[in-house]
Amino acid sequence: MSITLAVLKETAKGEPRVSAIPETVKKLTALGINVTVTKGAGEQASYLDGDYKDAGASLSVSNDAAIAKADMVFCIRTPDAKTLSKAKKGAMIIGGLSPFSFDAKPFKDGGLTALAMELMPRITRAQNMDILSSQSNLAGYQAVIEGANAFNRALPMMMTAAGTIAPAKAFIMGVGVAGLQAIATAKRLGASVSATDVRMATKEQVESLGGKFVFVDDEEAKNAETSGGYAKEMSATYKKKQATLIAETIAKQDIVITTALIPGRPAPELVSEDMVKSMKPGSVIVDLAAPMGGNCPLTEPDKVIVKHGVTIIGHTNLAGHVATDSSALFARNLFNFVNLVFDKDAGKIDLSKDTEITSAITLMNNGKAVHDILKPKPQATAKPKPAKKKKAPVKKKVSKK
Ligand code: NAI
Repeated sequence: MSITLAVLKETAKGEPRVSAIPETVKKLTALGINVTVTKGAGEQASYLDGDYKDAGASLSVSNDAAIAKADMVFCIRTPDAKTLSKAKKGAMIIGGLSPFSFDAKPFKDGGLTALAMELMPRITRAQNMDILSSQSNLAGYQAVIEGANAFNRALPMMMTAAGTIAPAKAFIMGVGVAGLQAIATAKRLGASVSATDVRMATKEQVESLGGKFVFVDDEEAKNAETSGGYAKEMSATYKKKQATLIAETIAKQDIVITTALIPGRPAPELVSEDMVKSMKPGSVIVDLAAPMGGNCPLTEPDKVIVKHGVTIIGHTNLAGHVATDSSALFARNLFNFVNLVFDKDAGKIDLSKDTEITSAITLMNNGKAVHDILKPKPQATAKPKPAKKKKAPVKKKVSKK
């Protein structure tokens, strides 16, 4: 007995990536998995149908045809409800499923299992399955390339017979995976680089890459990191201090790359309109947080605009701009996961093989919502409390003072 995997052609606008490449198809086939690839699935990422066939895949005429016979489905983004309605009961959908804006209905209706690779725990042995890291890394690189391209000047210092060109100043806001790669790339291109983050742990990382660290060093900053390594939402007081420091720094920059994100929340506003006004004409902002609302309120998703003489780039899928590489890394992340949980003897996926990982990423199990993310938020039940005793809040306020 062996299972069938469908590799879908992405249908979302502006999504050129593909979730399996010939190299991973070959490895999946070697595990004993039958692989079906929708015709043209890899075309925009420069992976051709013939190469999938040579790697051992069969080709399907459409996503509907591919999903109809699949036990397991790979995707970069959640397939639409119509496509999901064609899936077999119990089929396992694995890929980028946007867990914070996940629509459970088609999965419930179809009795499907949903594994969201974005929720991969940040533990050392899961690094080779972490799609957020692999894609953010390339997005950080690409942000510098796009920023440099939109900048009407050179990045490195150049001493020529006709005069000296000063190095461009690049400022990276948010030093996660994307930010670190942006620092490294801007450095390699010869820019003078500085960076900021709310997590103190990033200071050393920035400095080790040759960047200057710009930071609000107060008590709150000592606890700005969750146990999972992500940033917490900061208080209004911290944000004010940060804004003052950033305003002073930003006016001197040429290229600003913003990558600040808080999982499941809108992106924090870091670059106000006044700060944009203070920047030199011809400066560039690349807002990598655009898919989560942007770190600059002027950012328009998927548009490049010029405001107050500053070019603001709001591409929401920068990893997709290097689709060959980003697909390859995404595909290897998925292969590494399947390789971990595939039971070769039984010829099927066994999610009990590594429950630390599988319970972290399983949103739905055979149509049943199983992940905490899908449960109603606790605030909703806490809200009615103060309404019960009308006088109590007044007394409480007085006693607090
Ligand atoms: P992310 O994409 O969630 O956020 C990007 C950056 O924005 C973070 O560094 C965050 O601290 C920063 N940020 C948030 N709010 C901010 C604000 N108001 N001002 C300035 N900066 C702000 O982060 P990402 O890239 O997912 O990385 C988070 C952490 O996880 C990093 O420490 C990274 O090294 C770590 N990591 C660990 C892995 C593992 O152990 N397997 C794999 C990948 C990342």
